[in-house]
Amino acid sequence: MDHAFRAPKGTRDILWPDSARWRSLVDVFADVVSSAGYLEVIPPMFEHVEVFQRLGQATDVVRKEMYSFEDRGGRQIALRPEQTASVVRAFAEHRPVVPWKAWYAGPNFRYERAQKGRYRQFDQVGVEVLGPEDAHVDAEVIALAWRFYERLGLRRVTLAVNSLGSPGDRARYVEALRAHFSADLDSLSEESRTTLAVNPLRVLDSRREADTALVAAAPSMLDHLSDDAEAHFGRVTDALAALGVPFTVSPRLVRGLDYYVRTTFEFVAEALDAAQDAVGGGGRYDGLAEDLGAPATPGVGFALGVDRTLLACDAEGVFDAPTSSIDVFVVDTTGGERAVVLTDDLRRAGLRADRAWDGRSMKAQMKAADRSGAAMAVIVGEDELAAGTVVVRDLRGDGGQETVALDSMIDILRARLR
Ligand code: HAM
Repeated sequence: MDHAFRAPKGTRDILWPDSARWRSLVDVFADVVSSAGYLEVIPPMFEHVEVFQRLGQATDVVRKEMYSFEDRGGRQIALRPEQTASVVRAFAEHRPVVPWKAWYAGPNFRYERAQKGRYRQFDQVGVEVLGPEDAHVDAEVIALAWRFYERLGLRRVTLAVNSLGSPGDRARYVEALRAHFSADLDSLSEESRTTLAVNPLRVLDSRREADTALVAAAPSMLDHLSDDAEAHFGRVTDALAALGVPFTVSPRLVRGLDYYVRTTFEFVAEALDAAQDAVGGGGRYDGLAEDLGAPATPGVGFALGVDRTLLACDAEGVFDAPTSSIDVFVVDTTGGERAVVLTDDLRRAGLRADRAWDGRSMKAQMKAADRSGAAMAVIVGEDELAAGTVVVRDLRGDGGQETVALDSMIDILRARLR
């Protein structure tokens, strides 16, 4: 096939039943976060490029991966690479009452090296809380993500937490790292030398063999925390312990975006390949709202990758895709007019119903009924048409069948489907 007519590299078509599973994942997420008072926000998929430049000029997301372009009106636009900046921009623009607890779901765009679990268009579900700097909000946010993974049935997800301290702590730590790595520049990989020049924190992320020893010997962020930041972090970890959410403190955990201060965290799926095993992450970004034109307002949140979370579900054999999309299949051998009305009756009664088309034979229609995965068939032939009845047949195993009056059809189906 002409490659122009294939989905672009790094994108995928999500067909049923994966699409149904996708949607139920978002439903479960919405249920978990709405029970905690989060309200949905739907930001645009593109913004003025300046909004995302706040993620950090030194980050890969901004430097190398952004889909940015000039629109026909001469505006510099970028497709969103994530939604925190958009949600905080919306906060700055509309100034809702704080605490503002928002959740979102939708696609993001990053020009990444595409592979399994790493896409150029990928979906996230997430939350952001603007207003409080209370460490217990950090704990609430982390615990919500944890409960969500539990609801999906995932058992092999681990949580790493860290604190990057106040902006001042962070800056001092970056200098300490720069000094540490610069002292032994020759033993650093070439890539890491480049990274060091733009963003010393990211060198800690290196998984390259050559860097292992130097990274292991690097100073720890936790030794650079101010008393305030340390106390804040202590309250986060105490609350997580009280909630029974297991975690490890990972002083080397740095995230790929520059807005973080204080708490950061990441969820890793042990069932996935190491290169893309991060199924979610987040943290505090107390300076972002001010950067985007709001009065100084602390913020904290997370985003979970939908694509990767579903891969983790596959790997653990949980949160299965549905096996059927409908409950009842209508088979009409009288010409199809009865099927027009019956499917509508069934649907209005809240049953999922479908039918065959093009005047197919009884045999072909029964085959379509089986293929549909429906549990029940409603069959109308000339006799039933004349008598005002239908045959209700159970398609699961040897469920048998009965002839029933039209006006009891729905009750009988409901009872059988229960
Ligand atoms: P992030 O770590 O860049 O954080 O992305 C969060 C999650 O999105 C990742 O853990 C991963 O599961 C998924 N993800 C990221 N890039 C890709 C990709 N190319 N393909 C598939 N999945 C991907 C953020 O986006 C922050 N906005 C999180 C946050 C919210 N921090 C505070 N509030």
